[in-house]
Amino acid sequence: MASGRVALITVFFWLCLFGGLCDQNVYPKVGTLFVHKLDAEDYQQQFLNKSGNEQTQPISFYANLEGFPDLPGWLRYTQRSPWHSGYLYGSPNTPGKQVIEITVYNRHKFEMLREKIIFHIRAAEDVPPPFRAEFLVENMDVEEMLPPEAQHNFQVPLQTVWNTQRLSIINITSALDKGGRVPLPLPGRKEGVFIKMGSVVPFPKCFTDSQTSEIRQKCQQGEKPVFCQELIQNDFVIDWCNVSLVDKLEPSPSPPIYKALEFDGDFNPPPDTLEEIYYLPDYMLTLLLPILVALLLCLLLSYVMCCRREGVEKRDANTAELQLVHQQSIFSNTEELRKMAADRDVPRPLSTLPMFNSRTGQRTSPMDLTDDSARVPLILSQH
Ligand SMILES: *[C@@H]1O[C@H](CO)[C@@H](O)[C@H](O)[C@H]1NC(C)=O
Ligand SMILES: *[C@@H]1O[C@H](CO)[C@@H](O)[C@H](O)[C@H]1NC(C)=O
Repeated sequence: MASGRVALITVFFWLCLFGGLCDQNVYPKVGTLFVHKLDAEDYQQQFLNKSGNEQTQPISFYANLEGFPDLPGWLRYTQRSPWHSGYLYGSPNTPGKQVIEITVYNRHKFEMLREKIIFHIRAAEDVPPPFRAEFLVENMDVEEMLPPEAQHNFQVPLQTVWNTQRLSIINITSALDKGGRVPLPLPGRKEGVFIKMGSVVPFPKCFTDSQTSEIRQKCQQGEKPVFCQELIQNDFVIDWCNVSLVDKLEPSPSPPIYKALEFDGDFNPPPDTLEEIYYLPDYMLTLLLPILVALLLCLLLSYVMCCRREGVEKRDANTAELQLVHQQSIFSNTEELRKMAADRDVPRPLSTLPMFNSRTGQRTSPMDLTDDSARVPLILSQH
């Protein structure tokens, strides 16, 4: 019994290692930022175990919702390069269970791993924080804000300014997702990250100061005002022109109302054709009709080829007879000609006699010529 269990565990372990059957469970919470790291080093180690290659391999990931080609709307994926870890992050809207499939590629050897991450999305225990501020951190890329240390480093100084411990990060979004531009590939140029913080405590004064119309105007003229001096020492450069504060709960979006299109006249929907459709007549028409026609043609051809053959033979016999008669007549004609040639005693035909000498202009009557033409010199001597 015990050995059986050990065997089962071993089998599961190997399946887990090589079949990618280890499912991970994660527990994000509605309305709170969730980050899952796809650790490049872990996967590199797995590929190492598999192939025994000592080199570190570049790795890329592909993530999708099980049964769908893409991720659910709330979850986003990012990886800076095949040498960096990947991140799945986002802020879920509704509780439930979602299975995310991860495909891991080794870019050098085209090896592949598959695994599943099961998201058990919990409902938020408390009411969503009513005071929400969104900051644009200019000097960060989204991947740099996703590790927990970075989030912590951002949050702690804010807690002092906000004067509360009950701060939570609601969402992190790359500025590129909100209409930002891809920065020039220069050192120190970053895409920028929007970080949405939530709290039950009202905003500190330095936050609300940034929202006056004066400051807005300055921002539009290209100035960069700075607020909350306590935050200046941070590694994070906040763009105070892009701070947005929301101090009440947004009304939940009412479901869109679709107005029915108006028709002139009555609309007759097609009847529900769920009853069985008989395809037999169609079948007959498309299959049997050509076969019938082919059969008929076949019969016709056979009739022509076999039964009408007699007539052909008869005609053949007739022609043979005709040919025989023809040959006989040629034969008898030739005989007759030979006979005639044998007792020929007639003058030479006129056409073979010279009648006019073009040089001398002499005319000779064909009747005068008694000598054989062979004795007449062809070229007459000149006088
Ligand atoms: C988080 O940010 C993304 C991108 O801007 C947005 O689509 C999503 O609705 C946000 N989620 C919450 C809970 O605010
Ligand atoms: C930040 O704010 C400025 C001025 O209000 C605006 O022009 C700019 O587009 C904003 N940046 C982003 C990434 O939204």
